[in-house]
Amino acid sequence: MTDAAVAAGDADLDDLLSDEAIDYPARYHARLRQADPVHWNQRWRGWVVTGYDEVISGFRDHQRLSSDRFAGPFGVELRRAAQRSSSEQLLNFLSQFFVWKDQPYHTHVRSLVNKAFTPRSVERLRPRVRGLVRELAQPLRGRDGADFLAEFAFQLPVIVIAEYLGVPSDARQDVRAWSEDLGAVIFVRGDDAERMQRGEAAMARLVDFLRPVVRARRREPRDDLLTAMMQAEERGDFLSEDEVIANAVLMVFAGHETTMNLISNGIVAFSEWPEEWRRLQREPDLARTATEEVLRYDGPIRALARWAKEPFSLAGRAIGAGERVLLVQHAANRDPAAFAGPDRLDIRRWPNRHVAFGQGIHTCLGAPLARLETQEALRYLAAEFAAIEILNEELHYHPTIVSRGLQQLRVRCHER
Ligand code: HEM
Repeated sequence: MTDAAVAAGDADLDDLLSDEAIDYPARYHARLRQADPVHWNQRWRGWVVTGYDEVISGFRDHQRLSSDRFAGPFGVELRRAAQRSSSEQLLNFLSQFFVWKDQPYHTHVRSLVNKAFTPRSVERLRPRVRGLVRELAQPLRGRDGADFLAEFAFQLPVIVIAEYLGVPSDARQDVRAWSEDLGAVIFVRGDDAERMQRGEAAMARLVDFLRPVVRARRREPRDDLLTAMMQAEERGDFLSEDEVIANAVLMVFAGHETTMNLISNGIVAFSEWPEEWRRLQREPDLARTATEEVLRYDGPIRALARWAKEPFSLAGRAIGAGERVLLVQHAANRDPAAFAGPDRLDIRRWPNRHVAFGQGIHTCLGAPLARLETQEALRYLAAEFAAIEILNEELHYHPTIVSRGLQQLRVRCHER
C-alpha cells in the first residue's frame, strides 16, 4: 500500500456499514467508484473494488487472489477467535466448505459436486417449484398485511433445497435458526467469541441432523443430491462422509438465504418501477430476463472478499501480499461503463452480464436453482397480483458487508 493510497482514504467513504452504505448502496457505491474504483479503505484495512472491469478481473485472478478463509489475514482472525471460544467443530466443518478453497482442492471437490448438480437435474424440479409457489402464495391473499420474508420468500428456497438434497423439510424452522447463527459467523466476521459459540452450537446441530440422513442414504440410495454427492467419483476419488456433510451444510446455507433475499429485493425493485411489473404481467415470458435484471439491480450478495497471495497491480494500484481485497458486485452491477442506464430496472435488458453469481472457478454452483425459483415466483406473483404494496414506511437492511437482505418486508397483495 502506498502513502498516496493511504492519503486517498476518506473517513466517510471508508465506513462500509454506514446507514448510506447499508440502506442506499447504489448511491454510496457510485461515490466510491467515482472517487477511486480500487480504493484503499483504511477502516477495513483492505482494498475496495467497485469498477466492473476491476471486479471481474479480481474474480478471475485465482493465481494471485485467494478465497482461503483459513489462511492469510482471514486465517489470522479466525484462529484468534477460535482461541477465545471453543469452536472446533465449527472450524472443522467450515474449513471443508469448497467455496473457501483454492485450486487444486477446490477443483477436486467442485468436479465431484458438479456431477450431482447439473442444470438438467435442476430443470426437472420446475413443476414442483411451480406448485410450491402457488401453494405458498395462497395465504398472502386478502390480508391487510403479510410478512413476505417469513411467509413466502424464506419458505420457497428452504423447502426446495431440503427436498433436492433429500433432507426432511419439516425441520426447516430449526434449519433457519441454525443457519442464521452460522450466517453471523460467515457474513459478519468471526472475531466475536459469543458469535463463534453460537455458530459452534448451530454447526453441531446441523451436523447431528445431517449425519444420520447421510448414513441412511449410504444404506438406501435415493434419487437426491446427498446420494449423488456420495456416489460422485472421479479417478478413484470420493468425498468423505464429513466432506458430504460439510458441503450439504454449505448448500443449505448458500441455497436459502440468498434466494430469499433475491425474491424479496425483487419485490422492492418492482415497487420502485411499477411499469415493469405491468410489463411482466403482459409478457410473462419476460420472467427469465426479469430475474437476471433483479440480480443485477439489487442482488442478494453485495460483495465478496479475497486476499492477495503475492504483490500485483490492479487498475494501477499496488496491492501488497497479504492484503485484503473486497470485490463489490453491487457496485460493478451499477457501473455505467458496463450497463446503459444502470440505475433503471429494465426487465428486457439483454445481454445482462451482471456479476451477481461471481465469475471464474467459484461461479455460483446453485445459479440454475436460484434462477428457476425466482423466475417461477415472479411469474406467478405478477400473474396473480395487480400490485404488491409495501407497508413498511422505511426499509432497512441487515448491516453486513457481504449480504444484502431486508430486516422486514410487510406487504399487501392486491388481486388483479
Ligand atoms: C440468488 C441466489 C444466489 C446468489 C446471488 C449466489 C451467489 C453466489 C456467489 C457470488 C458465489 C461465488 C462465491 C465466491 O466467488 O467466493 C456463489 C458460490 C456458491 N453458491 Fe451461490 N448464490 C445463490 C444461490 C445459491 C443456491 C440456491 C445454491 C445451492 C443450492 C448455491 C450454492 C453455491 C455454492 C455451493 C457455491 C460455491 C461454489 C464454488 O466455490 O465453486 N448458491 N454463490
